[in-house]
Amino acid sequence: MRKNDDFDRIVSLVKEKIGFPGDLYKFNPLRRRIEYCMNRCGIHDPARYLKLLEESNDELKRLVIELTINLSYFFRNPETFNQFRRICLSSLSTNHPSFWSAGCAAGEEPYTIAIILDQDGWDSYEIIGTDIDSDAISRAKKAVYNHFSIQFVPEGIKRSYFKIRDGQYLLDRRIVSKVKFEVNDLFQTNYREAFDVVFLRNVLIYLSKPAQIRLLKIISQSIKPKGFLILGKVETMIGIDPDQRFRPIDLKERIFQLQ
Ligand SMILES: C[S@@+](CC[C@H](N)C(=O)[O-])C[C@H]1O[C@@H](n2cnc3c(N)ncnc32)[C@H](O)[C@@H]1O
Repeated sequence: MRKNDDFDRIVSLVKEKIGFPGDLYKFNPLRRRIEYCMNRCGIHDPARYLKLLEESNDELKRLVIELTINLSYFFRNPETFNQFRRICLSSLSTNHPSFWSAGCAAGEEPYTIAIILDQDGWDSYEIIGTDIDSDAISRAKKAVYNHFSIQFVPEGIKRSYFKIRDGQYLLDRRIVSKVKFEVNDLFQTNYREAFDVVFLRNVLIYLSKPAQIRLLKIISQSIKPKGFLILGKVETMIGIDPDQRFRPIDLKERIFQLQ
């Protein structure tokens, strides 16, 4: 028998001390990531690891970094961005659109949106990136990236929008100034019909089904009528939109329109 009670206690401690709502996430992936952190410390008993977490804020932070898995990169799934351009940008009925990258990691996704808008000559728009992980948001505001983050950026864009210094890629300050960032928990957000397009990519996948349903409802309230929602390539709407608020527009690229 695994000591799931100890894992539950670890999840509760992280929620209490850092606010990460681990109880809403799929249990087995969370447990695997906790075990990964335990192994890194040479600990095999979750009760001992719990004790370490109670004593060490540094380890608590290291665990949260593992649990939130804020892996992202610029132009992730480039075909999705092509379709965003073709479908969403071309049908906007406002000349001051607003975009939300919900679960934006270190800013790679909202900055990709800003680069695309810049290339297409937009000058009036709002982009907000939010994440529960305050370290990721600090990195987003610095906008300095390693090779991994920019590996899929086309050469021309790399040359135009990044400067290389000491092997790091510094994003053009003009693009940086176009994106606002906030630290918040998506489950606590309360935006009302605020956005033309919401990117919610690679976040739902970590959540339990009831939490996916709950989050989708919260997100749907943040989108303007006829606005768009873009999910990650491995995420689906199946079984999580009981009121059928969303109509598929491009199923392959996971683009949906609010009815
Ligand atoms: C795998 S990354 C996806 C980043 C980006 N959307 C992409 O697709 O490349 C998931 C992000 O969601 C954030 N996240 C997870 N749960 C969250 C929550 N409840 N509220 C806000 N952000 C959350 C994580 O911290 C992480 O940065």
